[in-house]
Amino acid sequence: MNLRIFDSTDELMSAAARTIVESHARTVALSGGSTPQPLYTLLGQQLCDEQMTWVVVDERYVPVDDPQSNAGMINQTLFRNGMPPSHRFLRFHTELADPQKTVETFEAEWRAYGLDNLDVVILGVGDDGHTASLFPGTPALQVEDRIATAVFVEKLAMWRVTITKPVIRAAKLRIVLVTGASKREVLTKVRDGATEYPIAQATQGVETWWFVDRAAAPASTP
Ligand code: 6PG
Repeated sequence: MNLRIFDSTDELMSAAARTIVESHARTVALSGGSTPQPLYTLLGQQLCDEQMTWVVVDERYVPVDDPQSNAGMINQTLFRNGMPPSHRFLRFHTELADPQKTVETFEAEWRAYGLDNLDVVILGVGDDGHTASLFPGTPALQVEDRIATAVFVEKLAMWRVTITKPVIRAAKLRIVLVTGASKREVLTKVRDGATEYPIAQATQGVETWWFVDRAAAPASTP
């Protein structure tokens, strides 16, 4: 496991931003949640003028102005100072009020953009080992023939829409951001070879860099 441990969140996010900028990635998929927000703010302060396509990894099925919206969070962090005209933002149109139609529209836009394998996918991980909106035991984890899918997540009692595991695995690079003690157990199990977790299934055997803070660092990491 390509693991880098950081003593502070600031150092972790600066290193992740540097990695993305220096990779000259042109297609970057962005997970939601709380962990990546400082990274997106940092990236938003150094947006290049070359063509870039930013893709939302997954979405809670809420309006974009809902505080839970990942696209809304990205607008307020990465695009806080606006989006350069050479950049494109592919999000899930939850305003369609039909998860399956939202997925089909996302896939149509993906194809219209001419997207293929993403350069970078930024992932988080839940303490249950989910990533994107690929939750343990849900059918979304088994979808192999679509770019995106919709899933009703019982434990959250909400619809989610997400890019699929094959899309995540086909990217050139996955960067997983892990902070906080609540993630230590699942990270330790994945580091030790557990395969049942979605984050393991999305990253095993493909180039993945783990940016981890001290609190989340697996046991017996020097
Ligand atoms: C989402 C994310 C999700 C997230 C994990 C971790 O929409 O919530 O895409 O997969 O990465 O739930 O969330 P935190 O970063 O908030 O711990």
